[in-house]
Amino acid sequence: MDQSLTFDLDLIHRYDQAGPRYTSYPTALELHENFGEADYLRHIEQSNRLGGPLSLYFHIPFCDTVCYYCACNKIVTKNRAHAEPYLNDLCREIEMQGALFDRGRVVDQLHWGGGTPTFLSESQMRHLMVSTRRHFNLREDDEGQYSIEVDPRETDDRTIAVLRELGFNRISLGLQDFEPDVQKAVNRIQTEQETFAVLEAARNEGFRSTSIDLIYGLPLQTVESFSRTLEKILQVSPERFSVFNYAHLPQRFKTQRQIDDADIPNPEVKLAILQMVIQRLTEAGYVYIGMDHFAKPNDELAVAQREGKLYRNFQGYSTHSECDLIGLGVTSIGRVGDAYIQNVKDLDTYRRTIEQGRLPVFKGFELSRDDKLRRAVISGLICHFELEFIELEREFSIDFKTYFEQELIKLQKMAEDGLLTIDTDQILVRPAGRLLIRNICMVFDRYLTEKKQFSKVI
Ligand SMILES: C[S@@+](CC[C@H](N)C(=O)[O-])C[C@H]1O[C@@H](n2cnc3c(N)ncnc32)[C@H](O)[C@@H]1O
Ligand code: SF4
Repeated sequence: MDQSLTFDLDLIHRYDQAGPRYTSYPTALELHENFGEADYLRHIEQSNRLGGPLSLYFHIPFCDTVCYYCACNKIVTKNRAHAEPYLNDLCREIEMQGALFDRGRVVDQLHWGGGTPTFLSESQMRHLMVSTRRHFNLREDDEGQYSIEVDPRETDDRTIAVLRELGFNRISLGLQDFEPDVQKAVNRIQTEQETFAVLEAARNEGFRSTSIDLIYGLPLQTVESFSRTLEKILQVSPERFSVFNYAHLPQRFKTQRQIDDADIPNPEVKLAILQMVIQRLTEAGYVYIGMDHFAKPNDELAVAQREGKLYRNFQGYSTHSECDLIGLGVTSIGRVGDAYIQNVKDLDTYRRTIEQGRLPVFKGFELSRDDKLRRAVISGLICHFELEFIELEREFSIDFKTYFEQELIKLQKMAEDGLLTIDTDQILVRPAGRLLIRNICMVFDRYLTEKKQFSKVI
């Protein structure tokens, strides 16, 4: 497929609105408390009947210091001892959940996210992996996609070597911006030296893919300043970039109130930064995967996209099929059978539930047939920028154009604006529509209401 991207300022202005990032459909906002442990168990049974590989997500919520912009689920503490009781509970959860899934099911994907997984000490990390291996069937051939989010400020060569030894083969590094005044304004001081040392160590240890997280739209950023950050990173040529649009929702994330609104670049500057990023990364040979992600053409994400084998889950894009995802730890979200499941959000409730020998299910959502169909539509569009009707018609026994008559009428305007084409048998997102893919997906979302708080699509 053609992986090119067009930055069309006029279109972006016209379609400027807030919308979900579609790491799932329906989005996590639809999860509700009428779904409990018994429902989860029912879906695990169904999942075991179908079998297939598994994906595991572990949430390590701790961070040493707070970055003011942060919208992640985290607990800020200087006290490293806080991790110990949490890890014990997490290991008990691993044991409980491991006992429920067929032992023959191989773990093809594994991810430690946060917060900051590297908050853990070497022995704690080993403990966690040993416990996981005891209760789940982890791959020994290094062919799984085992990834971790790393904060370079508290990672060194030794940590990287241990992570590789534990089986990780993909790594992403939090960075955001190198400019001293921006770093100060967001309370995240991080040197080039420490960042690149981690990247180099990861390469030396044989990590297959290295990714750098940046955010545009942070206080005091300008096109010039952000291009300086970008050029520095391009020198070391990571396989992937995640360039996130700063989601500023101070009503929801308290620490964002530390950021002076007057310092936040205005929408014009933000767009100019995005335009510069796209231009520079494209010139440097990266392709746009979609939704903030860029990768080298030979990186597995770019290859999977060209081959029509890209997927999207709660952790972002993935090259492994949509296998059942088990969420472990506070706030983590899983997807098992036809359900999404979220664990409880605070440490005390998590501890109490685990101590009672119960699964810490907080919320969930059971997908209807219509939800699954729309999920397939949104996933096809967001991963491949195209949608073949015939495949969905076969899988869901529908006539696409009849079922989505209203949606196709709405898409007509986008087609006239050059975002996409609608043929007799497919929808094709054009290069000018790719940055606006969220808007296109939103047409198929039955749950959107004005009240819900999302970040801007661009
Ligand atoms: C869990 S953190 C990464 C690991 C580690 N905690 C670190 O910061 O180095 C995940 C990423 O989410 C992104 N992020 C956090 N808050 C954000 C926000 N408000 N808007 C956009 N991206 C954000 C950052 O790029 C961050 O690196
Ligand atoms: S960006 Fe990372 S280190 Fe900073 S507060 Fe968020 S999770 Fe913690």
